[in-house]
Amino acid sequence: MRIGVLTGGGDCPGLNAAIRAVVYRAAQNGHEVVGFLDGWKGVRDDLSRPLAPADVADIVLRGGTVLGSSRTNPFKTPEDAEKVLATLDRHHVDALVTIGGDDTLTAGRELARRGRKVVGVPKTMDNDVAGTDWTFGFDSASSVALDALERLRDTAGSHHRAVVLEVMGRHAGWVALATGLAGGADFTLLPEEPYDEPRLMDHVRAAVARKGFALVVVSEGIDLGPRKGNAGSGDQFGHELLKEREVGAEVAKRIETVTGVESRSAVIGHIQRGGAPTLFDRILATRMGAKAVDLLLAGRSGEVAVLRGAEVIGVPFDEALRENKKVGPDWIDLLHTFDA
Ligand code: F6P
Repeated sequence: MRIGVLTGGGDCPGLNAAIRAVVYRAAQNGHEVVGFLDGWKGVRDDLSRPLAPADVADIVLRGGTVLGSSRTNPFKTPEDAEKVLATLDRHHVDALVTIGGDDTLTAGRELARRGRKVVGVPKTMDNDVAGTDWTFGFDSASSVALDALERLRDTAGSHHRAVVLEVMGRHAGWVALATGLAGGADFTLLPEEPYDEPRLMDHVRAAVARKGFALVVVSEGIDLGPRKGNAGSGDQFGHELLKEREVGAEVAKRIETVTGVESRSAVIGHIQRGGAPTLFDRILATRMGAKAVDLLLAGRSGEVAVLRGAEVIGVPFDEALRENKKVGPDWIDLLHTFDA
């Protein structure tokens, strides 16, 4: 077989580990790999490079993606769709491994519906792909956010301030949840819960009374209700760029106004997406990349390699993409255990 591979959507640590696994697993079984550049754009516009084990031997520890990424929707127009199929034929690609989040995988499903062999590998720092327990990229991104919170703790304590850390994650609060729980935040605001200002202010006041400072984690996706301020612009798939709404700065301003506690905010933004992947992400990405090839070798297509419990298994695209996975009530309950 000649297997194509691409990485699409927002990059995250672990992509290179997944690419490496695809290439090595294919080579182990006597198959070739061609890498398409910059996500679906590379398939649409015919940008590719051959990938042999020697090309990817040392990338497991590197952040980003050696193939490049983009948020290109390859099926935006019928002409684009034709270009995609033509590129695959030109390169004699028998099967494609699409590594990405919801949008990239949805495009993969569309290609499978058009009769091509396609398997998916879920990745995203947002951890919001429905069919998998965890996506790689999430652990690394949350670890960076955790480090940022710990640094903010020092300066918040020195100056007796309330400090708000805004983290990414789109409309799912997984990164905020993990950062707040692991970093001992005094309050964490998730998109999954209605914004409760009196409760937030009570916690800030209590924390300041107890120890002289307060740490608040805010997910970029929270809804602060109607307010004068920024609306995020959109990307190719029509997603609002939530960072532009600056909810962290707004929350800090409100804390200062309501409680009188001097407040600051920090946004770590894309810093969360860079750097070496954690051990967990390297292993998960490696397992998923290898599984994607195993699925193809077993003659399976239209599936995504997902983590269920301790196992990496193949499930149909529809199951992996059935919804945007949100933080559930059990997690929220655990988070609020530490509100006291
Ligand atoms: O989906 C991953 C993510 O990092 C989100 O958390 C964030 O809202 C978005 O991508 C940012 O997108 P971009 O890299 O296009 O600015």
